[in-house]
Amino acid sequence: MKISKETIKAIESSDNVVVLTGAGISAESGVPTFRGEEGLWRNFRAEELATPFAFQRDPKLVWEWYDWRRNLIKPLYPNAGHKVIASVEQKKSSFKLITQNVDGLHQKAGNKKYVELHGNIWKTRCTEEGKVTENLESPLKKIPPVCECGAMLRPHIVWFGESLPVEAIQSSYQAAENCDLMMVVGTSAVVQPAASLPGIAKNTGAFVIEINAEETPISDMVDDSYLGKAGEILPLLEKYFE
Ligand code: OAD
Repeated sequence: MKISKETIKAIESSDNVVVLTGAGISAESGVPTFRGEEGLWRNFRAEELATPFAFQRDPKLVWEWYDWRRNLIKPLYPNAGHKVIASVEQKKSSFKLITQNVDGLHQKAGNKKYVELHGNIWKTRCTEEGKVTENLESPLKKIPPVCECGAMLRPHIVWFGESLPVEAIQSSYQAAENCDLMMVVGTSAVVQPAASLPGIAKNTGAFVIEINAEETPISDMVDDSYLGKAGEILPLLEKYFE
């Protein structure tokens, strides 16, 4: 794959880098993406399960889905793409990773300056007290799991129809406005507000690079779009981040 002169120049001259990731960055580690055939679980789409309404109607079903995802993710490791993003954080003094992923693989790869826009699958939240706790039990002994106070626990994940934590979204907008380089990796760019961040970066003068297995709604808007696997393309870019 040929990396354009413009991309190389933008990477080499960048001082303030933002990376926005979606499920595609973890696909090569073995985490199923949400959209497309492999996103289905017992014939349900994420939009049918990741909602407060679905949880209210059938908490056991929703928890079974998360338990399945947790069991699946538990033995997995960061791939070459995650590793490049962790090394970019080391190389650039101003850096922010904004991830829609809840799998924790960026942290395993070593990223420290990150925002988890949609929460984390390894945390639970009490439906009564709102207390957030790390919970690594996999498989879960009891579904749905219960808090010490007796109330039901829910996954600490932002579901469709729920608001993102104000701090997370504010700091993400701010990072998008201030960066001079944004890399958008492995997201279908259809879920808001994450999908609006590349446009904000572009409008405020950043060079925006997309890396995705296929074209997305933002492909025409970005400065350069590289079609292929994140685990193969990111390593080609790494050397320019010195
Ligand atoms: P999606 O499943 O919608 O999109 C994954 C994207 O990754 C697609 O555009 C694929 O083309 C691309 N892709 C797949 N394999 C790839 C690879 N090896 N390298 C590069 N790209 C690859 O996932 P998201 O955009 O993350 O929310 O979805 C956004 C949100 O919707 C998720 O956070 C989740 C979901 O429902 C919640 O669960 C709340």
